Amino acid sequence: MITNTELEYKGNLYPNQIISFNQDVDKFNFTSENGVILQITVLRNSALRFRYATENVFEPDFSYAISEDASRGYGDLEVSEEESYYLITTTKLKVLVDKLTMRIQISDHEGNIINEDEIGFHWEENYEYGGNTVKMSKITQNAESYFGMGDKATHSNLKGKRVNNWCMDQYAYGKDQDPLYKAIPFYIGLHKNQAYGIFFDNTFRSYFDFAHERRNVTSFWADGGEMNYYFFYGPEMSKVVKAYTNLTGTPELPPMWAMGYHQSKWSYFPESNVKALAAKFRELRIPCDALYLDIDYMDGFRCFTWDKKKFPDPKRMMAELNEDGFKTVVMIDPGIKIDKDYWVYQEAMEEDYFCKRGDGPYMKGKVWPGECHFPDFTNPEVREWWAELYKEFMSELGVHAVWNDMNEPAVMEVPTKTAPLDTRHNYDGHPCTHRKAHNIYGMQMVRATYEGIKKYVYPKRPFVITRAAYAGTQRYSSTWTGDNVATWEHLWLANVQVQRMCMSGMSFVGSDIGGFAEQPNGELFARWIQLGVFHPFCRVHSSGDHGDQEPWSFDTDVTDIVRKYIELRYQLLPYLYTMFWKYSKFGEPMLKPLVYFDQEDTQTHFRTDEFIFGDHILVCPVQEPNAQGRRMYIPRGKWYNYWDDNIVKGGKEQWVEADIDVIPLFIKEGAIIPKFPVQQYVGELVIEKLDLEVYFKLGTESSTVYEDAQDGYDYNKGDFSLRSFKMNGKENSLVIQQFKDGAFMTSYDSFRINLHGLPFAIESVEVDNEEVPLNEVKPNGNDVIEICKDFTQVIIKG
Ligand code: NOJ
Repeated sequence: MITNTELEYKGNLYPNQIISFNQDVDKFNFTSENGVILQITVLRNSALRFRYATENVFEPDFSYAISEDASRGYGDLEVSEEESYYLITTTKLKVLVDKLTMRIQISDHEGNIINEDEIGFHWEENYEYGGNTVKMSKITQNAESYFGMGDKATHSNLKGKRVNNWCMDQYAYGKDQDPLYKAIPFYIGLHKNQAYGIFFDNTFRSYFDFAHERRNVTSFWADGGEMNYYFFYGPEMSKVVKAYTNLTGTPELPPMWAMGYHQSKWSYFPESNVKALAAKFRELRIPCDALYLDIDYMDGFRCFTWDKKKFPDPKRMMAELNEDGFKTVVMIDPGIKIDKDYWVYQEAMEEDYFCKRGDGPYMKGKVWPGECHFPDFTNPEVREWWAELYKEFMSELGVHAVWNDMNEPAVMEVPTKTAPLDTRHNYDGHPCTHRKAHNIYGMQMVRATYEGIKKYVYPKRPFVITRAAYAGTQRYSSTWTGDNVATWEHLWLANVQVQRMCMSGMSFVGSDIGGFAEQPNGELFARWIQLGVFHPFCRVHSSGDHGDQEPWSFDTDVTDIVRKYIELRYQLLPYLYTMFWKYSKFGEPMLKPLVYFDQEDTQTHFRTDEFIFGDHILVCPVQEPNAQGRRMYIPRGKWYNYWDDNIVKGGKEQWVEADIDVIPLFIKEGAIIPKFPVQQYVGELVIEKLDLEVYFKLGTESSTVYEDAQDGYDYNKGDFSLRSFKMNGKENSLVIQQFKDGAFMTSYDSFRINLHGLPFAIESVEVDNEEVPLNEVKPNGNDVIEICKDFTQVIIKG
């Protein structure tokens, strides 16, 4: 423990004894003699907010991160005063506030300490900028592990690491390089099977030290603003992640095509090349839903314009692509070229929408078009204007979706790679400098984009992708992990980064498959595709200056592997869509690292490679050249090897074969996995039968299938179909019950049920209490039965 004298010596200030206390419904205010106010708000039984003010004043309470839909409500709430502490009790937690030091200790009702302050809140005055550097230090518990923190290209368990949050353009970043493009100051702690989360909602540059500097201390601090953090208690990690995601919000369902395969490059042009690309996909029968136009479609990199030499008639081109099942996604950057003849520039100048420096002149920065000004997206009026700029693109030309890049914001040819810190921002009526607005600049840009797209693609659903993000950006946009490199190490990184983002509330994420910088060989590309089809966002993108990265750019064996995996993704679309629905509705991460899946098993705490796709599919990419398999950890329980239906028992590391066309995949026993037929694009086929892959289990297991019109908003009016299946397997019988909700009529009438691992030969099948002749339900004579989609109970007996 650091003593107070040492603290003072280092220029730190800290609260002294509490002299007053009051309660205002769900808020508790404690004031110290030296003017520190600690305000604790009870949001829910297991979610609390801690705010600290110095000099007796709080800043106005405003946050871009918090969702309007966040739930509030708690049961019993009590406070008592003891000799040396105050005690706040909810139905889940006990929060002790020490009278002498204002330090906090949070425990459960059994007396297990979940989280406690070391020094707790302390601060240092910032003489250069004014305000405080606000700091918090916590005791690291025995064997505590740490997860989350958004996009960090490092081992998934953060114990022993220090990271910081400052959105940065990081071309060809390396392992352990920090910070990257996103700032998500949320972590999950886990010790003695108790998980909790801390979200430090402070947009200034922030730092987190997970027992790196001092072995028993975890601390976080920021260059300004308030010490303002939320605490979520599990004890299950799933509860923590869901609570954080509930607070910062989830996206609405995207159109299903956004979950298809996407092809991008910097850049596809002119039109003839884009058309040839589209034709090649269809010719080779490789499913694809979206093609991306990077910056070169623009006229001299001016946003919202077209280079008419490369794309003489974009409206016709996009209509023709659409006819063939391709959506067009175009890039829009924040930098607006300084050009007095350019309408976007003119409008922004007339309305005074560009950011200015501290002493008045416009902020200038070089990006693709040369010198640019940057709209102040933290001004609500600017966001409205920006949203309207999309009108022509979306409703007249037929652009389907938008890609916001460089929105950290990235600025070229300056060492900081971004805007000067004295740049002023409106911050929704709380004027401030770039020090505070930097980390939410990209978020506010993509928010404005989202509003515009949503308005102008209506009645279809919007799809937007952003590079920069702060906590809560998931409400508006999908994202990708930025400019990675075509190396095996980056394949490992992509796997960890995407899992970590899923744990940090932002599941709609993927990597540039194959690598953005440099050129992958066929083997690396094939292995990356095998992983990429299991990422919520699945796009190949590359810098394009060193050869092509299309599915057919390598030898035909590779093309066949790529097709096989993209086809698998299209078959799994109803499963993936259900994953997204669960994410959107419950904040459940779409990918679950093993530690999330089974936190009780301490072997999972340091695993990085394996993850659960949705609820039931275990995936483990091969991340080395020349591999014929790999060792992997299979979590506890029984799993079917997807490729041969062999059943393996988990709870240990084992060797799994995986030749170049195989990625290790296991299905949890008891799972019911829905599958579509392969389509070349979403909506190509009317689905006539839904395949249900049923993996027998002795015992019970539940599965869900969510469906709707795949686009539009009718699902909000009850036009969805939610099927919950409950399987109960016994030695010579299998019962599947179905519970249905929603009014949506699916296009198919029947299920084709493929039975895996059935331990008996089928003798009878009973549907809703009536035995059906076997030749009716088993047209193929093997372990496939076909039955009407509306059954409530099927009993299969041996
Ligand atoms: C940087 C982005 O990260 C990359 O994906 C894009 O291709 C280039 N900018 C060019 O727009």
